[in-house]
Amino acid sequence: MRIGNIDLGARPLLLAPMEDVTDIGFRLLCRRLGAAMVYSEFVNCDALVRLVKQSMKKLEVCDEERPVAIQIYGKDPATMADAARIVVEQARPDVLDINFGCPVKKIATKGAGAGLLQDPPRLLAIARAVVDAVGDSVPVTAKTRLGWDHEHKIIVSLAEQLQDCGISALTIHGRTRSQLYTDTADWTLIGEVRRNPRMRIPIIGNGDIHSIGEAEAAFDRYGVDGVMIGRATFGQPWVFSRQELTTRQKVDILKEQVLTSVQRLGEYSGILHSRRHLAASPLFKGIPDFRQTRIAMLRADTVDSLFEIIEKTYAMIA
Ligand SMILES: Cc1cc2nc3c(=O)[nH]c(=O)nc-3n(C[C@H](O)[C@H](O)[C@H](O)COP(=O)(O)O)c2cc1C
Repeated sequence: MRIGNIDLGARPLLLAPMEDVTDIGFRLLCRRLGAAMVYSEFVNCDALVRLVKQSMKKLEVCDEERPVAIQIYGKDPATMADAARIVVEQARPDVLDINFGCPVKKIATKGAGAGLLQDPPRLLAIARAVVDAVGDSVPVTAKTRLGWDHEHKIIVSLAEQLQDCGISALTIHGRTRSQLYTDTADWTLIGEVRRNPRMRIPIIGNGDIHSIGEAEAAFDRYGVDGVMIGRATFGQPWVFSRQELTTRQKVDILKEQVLTSVQRLGEYSGILHSRRHLAASPLFKGIPDFRQTRIAMLRADTVDSLFEIIEKTYAMIA
């Protein structure tokens, strides 16, 4: 699959953009473990044009993680265009992605993210404005959902229109905005977009992929060009790896992840940031009589005490 000049190889697996999750450390780890491309969390365009420090910090990328996409969101075409120029100048990302899929109330009901699915002319105006703003410097891609709700699944025609705006690849999460994260992702319309003879740009499918096996099945069944994985990376960034890792290697990866967060955020905040991954990791599921140890693991507030518990757990599962 190619996005602009970037060759992502055959059947690429991509790390989904996730707020407060896909920071530089996590992106690097996922790249090393087999993700073909990684995405930043979404960054608000209004904050970018005001050069708000916290948002500018989200534009940090490093060469080892390339190809990397930076994702932006907002509702005003001119502000999105200005923000896009800032992103390109600051981060020189390999891809600039636009968020048309965020279902969160404070974003979608204010006309940004998936809210734009209720206003396709504005959504397309944003796509055009961003494509025009960055010119040939970087491919612009978009990520969206099937539509606003069950009665308005507009993705098949919207995909064509986005392509006509100059969008270079489209990621589709197989849910509507109304579904939020309920039900299971429906990939049939993603397949329909892919099979549309008018479509030339790569289509990346997203939603409820938990393993390489499920990703391969999605490639076979729906003909997508790429598969994007989000929540299944929590506590198992090796989900991208086509090689079988030992339990020891997996434990070491989780420890490395904790240390990277601690380096970036300080000891306590770094551990807090890692807890979501430790809590979700399949490594620590289904261990007999584990409840107390698990509670202690998720309460540990120093690296030494946390690692001691992780090693004790390793001894139980090795
Ligand atoms: C914690 C969290 C944060 C997310 N943040 C973003 C985001 O910043 N931008 C975006 O396009 N999608 C975001 N998403 C949606 C994911 O990219 C993805 O579309 C969704 O989780 C479905 O894929 P999955 O079933 O593989 O998790 C987020 C999802 C989660 C769980």
